Amino acid sequence: MEALDKSVVVGVIGAGAMGAGIAQVAAQAGHTVSLYDNREGGAAAAIATIAKQMAKLVERKKFTDEEVQQIVSRLNVVERLEDFANAGLVVEAIVENIDVKKAIFSTLESVCDKRCILASNTSSISITRLAAGMQHPGRMVGMHFFNPAPIMKLVEVISGLATEDGVAKCVYNTALNWGKKPVYAASTPGFIVNRVARPFYAESFRLRQEQVADCATLDALLRDAGGFRMGAFELTDLIGHDVNYAVTCSVFDAYYGDFRFQPSLIQKELVDAGYLGRKTSQGFYSYRDGDEKPTA
Ligand code: NAI
Repeated sequence: MEALDKSVVVGVIGAGAMGAGIAQVAAQAGHTVSLYDNREGGAAAAIATIAKQMAKLVERKKFTDEEVQQIVSRLNVVERLEDFANAGLVVEAIVENIDVKKAIFSTLESVCDKRCILASNTSSISITRLAAGMQHPGRMVGMHFFNPAPIMKLVEVISGLATEDGVAKCVYNTALNWGKKPVYAASTPGFIVNRVARPFYAESFRLRQEQVADCATLDALLRDAGGFRMGAFELTDLIGHDVNYAVTCSVFDAYYGDFRFQPSLIQKELVDAGYLGRKTSQGFYSYRDGDEKPTA
């Protein structure tokens, strides 16, 4: 199936780190985007942040002022899920919780045209399970971007048991048109990247827990000697510990408690404290006043 035409309205649900980024990517590709968040003012704040960040790209001559104005003008706040009735693709990027996600898709089915593709940006939840019980499960697909979505090229296009081949192909080709490098993946817990990444985080957290070295030393080592772009501590601070911990728990449960995917107590402590990483200015590192000191 061909990629979606630019004239197709794209809906994005959740205006957090990922939803805002996905909305920006779709608007940059020429789509009109409807952005919804159940946090009051959440979608409007995300669009304001996108506008601010894109203004910096004008200064760096990546876009012209006019281009940015056009991109931002394609981003629209919507207040209710019913406002997605005219969308041809809806990408959900809300909290990593299957019940909450399923409730959203159930409402979308009653609102959207039956040809509208329903996609989840889930990091770990089974697309097969998300689709189960839907009236048209063939249109349910994973469209998994990476953080930050406007920069990271990879998109995992995930098929559950019921996903129609044409739907996965359409999402794959659309991601290509959006300047991404999509890969197909079957719906297994954590898909490809998040499955491989779990032991990377877990072993790094164990090193820290055993006080082998501090976070900055371990991150530097993983970068300089390991060749990773980011170490586990700075990367999970960027992802958000609430999100990353939920993903770990989901993968661990889905693999029947396989030790390789066991969540880390050090991370649970950060979540319990509300030290969620960059988004709360405190995680393994502190981000207050431009500070980046290891604190765990
Ligand atoms: P976030 O916490 O930054 O944003 C989530 C947003 O969803 C919040 O603004 C929240 O108000 C909104 N929300 C929650 N429940 C809602 C509901 N019922 N209806 C409407 N809006 C609702 O989370 P983030 O990081 O953007 O993650 C979102 C999804 O993307 C999760 O499924 C996560 O696993 C996945 N993901 C996260 C990545 C990351 O690096 N943070 C990378 C790739 C995927």
